[in-house]
Amino acid sequence: QKLDLELAAIEKGGYDHFMLKEIFEQPITIADSLRGRLMANEAQIILSGIDDIKDKLMAARRVIIVACGTSWHAGLVAEYVIEELCRINVEVEYASEFRYRNPIIDSDDVIFAISQSGETADTLVALERAKEQGATIFGIVNVVGSSIARISHAGCYTHAGPEIGVASTKAYTAQLAVLMMIALKVAKDKGTISEERFGNLCHELNQIPEKVQWVLDNEVDNIKAIAYKYKDAHDMLFLGRGYNFPTALEGALKLKEISYIHAEGYPAAEMKHGPIALVDDQLPVVFIASKDAYHEKIVSNIQEIKARKGMVISVVSEGDEITPNISNDVMRVPNVDEVIAPLLTVVPLQLLSYYIGVYRGLDVDKPRNLAKSVTVE
Ligand code: G6P
Repeated sequence: QKLDLELAAIEKGGYDHFMLKEIFEQPITIADSLRGRLMANEAQIILSGIDDIKDKLMAARRVIIVACGTSWHAGLVAEYVIEELCRINVEVEYASEFRYRNPIIDSDDVIFAISQSGETADTLVALERAKEQGATIFGIVNVVGSSIARISHAGCYTHAGPEIGVASTKAYTAQLAVLMMIALKVAKDKGTISEERFGNLCHELNQIPEKVQWVLDNEVDNIKAIAYKYKDAHDMLFLGRGYNFPTALEGALKLKEISYIHAEGYPAAEMKHGPIALVDDQLPVVFIASKDAYHEKIVSNIQEIKARKGMVISVVSEGDEITPNISNDVMRVPNVDEVIAPLLTVVPLQLLSYYIGVYRGLDVDKPRNLAKSVTVE
């Protein structure tokens, strides 16, 4: 038994939990996802899997993204990015709904399947159905040789390495890295992005590993203190707009998975249609408020929460002098183009959930009732 304990400690590489190890690995795993694919200096992206379905993709009326859980949130980010950069209509589907609701699919459709494990039963069956109806299946999968990788016509591995923590962290950012490269490459091939913007976004993407490292080097103690302060909350709200709306959903999912605190993610403006009724001096509200085209709007949403005595924790860009003044607590991230921001803004939220779970004395690597891979319905 002592040997088992020592082995487990070695596997965790000196970290207390796999989840923390995997959060800290992200500068490396994101770089691994980008390696050999993103050539930022030459402004070039090489993805052979995309080349394999290039004709289908160029002619596609739409892309349908099918996934579950955290992978579904990566799909939602991809919807924003692909529609913006590639001008292709994207629909994001929960696999469990898609498989049963007799969706309209034909041979012009390209389906992106996103899955860490490549074994999620609902996603697998949804893809089998779509394949029978002639759709082209493109897998964005982490586990090499998994069932979803095998039934796909083409694909792109995320290369995050084995993920042990039940709550997905590094697999999510690797999915985002791959989806960003796909969007950029397709936009370039379709001619829907200027050379200059393409070059800038390649450069921004290439810098993400070091920006994630900056958060890990500079913000952990601050985030720990924030986690301690809010660890006894009963509910939390996560709000974001645009590219950071899916990040709000992912932040809320991470928190409920790890800490068992009830959490909801919402588009910030939509809070007026319900969640604002929950706001009182006991409710922490996390805003993903990095600098982007919606920043002024998010600032006014924060003021609306403050006016109702809610406690505001904001993820802000370095150098932002307005948001910290109207927030109770802030978690900083380096400046980044709004398109790429979801790769960065999720990191403080992963850390916040992790430390709240730890302070509540919970088994963060194996939360109750959850499975790493849901292979049954
Ligand atoms: C489970 C895991 C989640 C994961 C989801 C989808 O719920 O606990 O972390 O996001 O399944 O899994 P997949 O392997 O298809 O990405």
